[in-house]
Amino acid sequence: MTDDSPAVAGATAGTTKAATATGTAIPAPSARSASTPARAVTRPARAGRAETVRFAATHTLPAFLRGAFHVRPKVVSAYAALGQQGWSAATLRAMRARHGGAPVEVRGLSGTLLVLLDQADVRQFYELPVRTLAMDAPDKYRGLSLLEPTGVICSHGDTREDRRRINDEVLAADRPVHPSCREFRSLVDEEASALTCGGELDFTRLRRTVARLGRRMVLGDAAAGDEELARWLLAIREEANWMRMRKGRAAAAEALYAKAAARVEEYAARAEPYTLAALARRHPSAAGPDAAVLDPVGQAHHWLLALDTVGPTVARTLLLLSAHPAEQDAVRAGIDGGDPELPRLRACVRETLRLYPLVPDLVRVTRAETEWRGQRYPAGTAVLVPALFHQRDPEHVAAAHRFVPARWLRPGAADDPVLAPFSHGGGRCPGEHLGLLTSAALIAAVLRGHRVTGGRPALDPSLALPGLLGSAGIRLTLTAR
Ligand code: HEM
Repeated sequence: MTDDSPAVAGATAGTTKAATATGTAIPAPSARSASTPARAVTRPARAGRAETVRFAATHTLPAFLRGAFHVRPKVVSAYAALGQQGWSAATLRAMRARHGGAPVEVRGLSGTLLVLLDQADVRQFYELPVRTLAMDAPDKYRGLSLLEPTGVICSHGDTREDRRRINDEVLAADRPVHPSCREFRSLVDEEASALTCGGELDFTRLRRTVARLGRRMVLGDAAAGDEELARWLLAIREEANWMRMRKGRAAAAEALYAKAAARVEEYAARAEPYTLAALARRHPSAAGPDAAVLDPVGQAHHWLLALDTVGPTVARTLLLLSAHPAEQDAVRAGIDGGDPELPRLRACVRETLRLYPLVPDLVRVTRAETEWRGQRYPAGTAVLVPALFHQRDPEHVAAAHRFVPARWLRPGAADDPVLAPFSHGGGRCPGEHLGLLTSAALIAAVLRGHRVTGGRPALDPSLALPGLLGSAGIRLTLTAR
């Protein structure tokens, strides 16, 4: 158990005994929980030397070594065994206590970072428009500009807004069920048959299946078996992890991106009409005067990357369901009930992402002067919300280290700023519903004919769940129903 063990009984958010499959009390929405009592701030809170070193050693360096764009499985396993997430949480809690919850300036190799540790500041972070608090913080930009140079995250001003609109419309960001969901569900069912043969499901098989599925959803059936494109994209992601620190290698990755982009365009030109690339090609911006700048089809690079993350999410959710059989029964009842939106299963996926977020740190850069707790900070300030820390913070989230999917069934839960697996505000994930739909459809395809009766690593539901859960080592035992 890590030293940030759950304070289940003593969590500050209220609880109710509403029925959950596991009988666990459901936490009240943490938006209502109190912020850390604010001290009157007369000057900016700055981390001292020891605090800075501790922050770098327990938070920043592990995040860099784990890999921002392509997770390094061995590093994750090593940190999981060492309890690294607990070190990071202990550091952040100590900083919050020492500075009375004020935003703390921490000096790093690439400049000063303003770390937000209090709920009121986190709320302000999500409320500020992206024109003021921009997504493309310098460190993030260095990596992303290799992966998706014309992607929405890398963009500014009007161009960003136009590219965001393309993403919102193609991904149907405002709808729980994507217009192509009938076709996407058929693709899931076809690909999922490879998952359930044999009594064991390992992550390698799941990852391959999800990659094929993602290519079919984005680029069409012709791309399903294109392992070469997959290798190119993987090489670019690995290089992006180094944030352009290896000059010659970054140039090679740029050349690889050009090849991959040409291949993506070729597929898009003949993709089935329901695919994301075909929808992007038919988007009005693709025929407009700014088509070359906006690059609607170029957005597909992020979509392929994002859909690959469905693999780890599905693996972790199935593992958690194997350790929570009553929840698995409730999910199964929902699948049998035939509601296509599968709300209970989607709640399980959201809960997995709360415990094991794909983006544990949200980083932004200010494009204008901003004020935090009465202190002004100039344009160009990098701002960090340690989202994982907040959504597993026992001071604000009841049963913070337990698997309690029912918390997501409460009205408004998905908009609670403390719980942010998809972020909030102008930078919120436009693929949220599509990611949930795809993950839930894959899990449903497995559970329709099988029960997950065991899994490795073993999880004990009576203890705090581990802070990190590497997906590469996950093995699931399937028993036919
Ligand atoms: C299923 C799990 C997913 C999770 C947990 C997730 C999470 C996130 C988060 C936290 C962000 C904000 C990142 C930041 O602030 O730096 C984000 C952004 C984004 N996501 Fe997702 N995502 C998922 C799936 C998807 C899918 C399936 C797509 C598209 C096919 C997608 C497309 C995007 C795009 C385009 C952005 C950038 C938004 C912008 O710059 O305004 N995501 N995602």
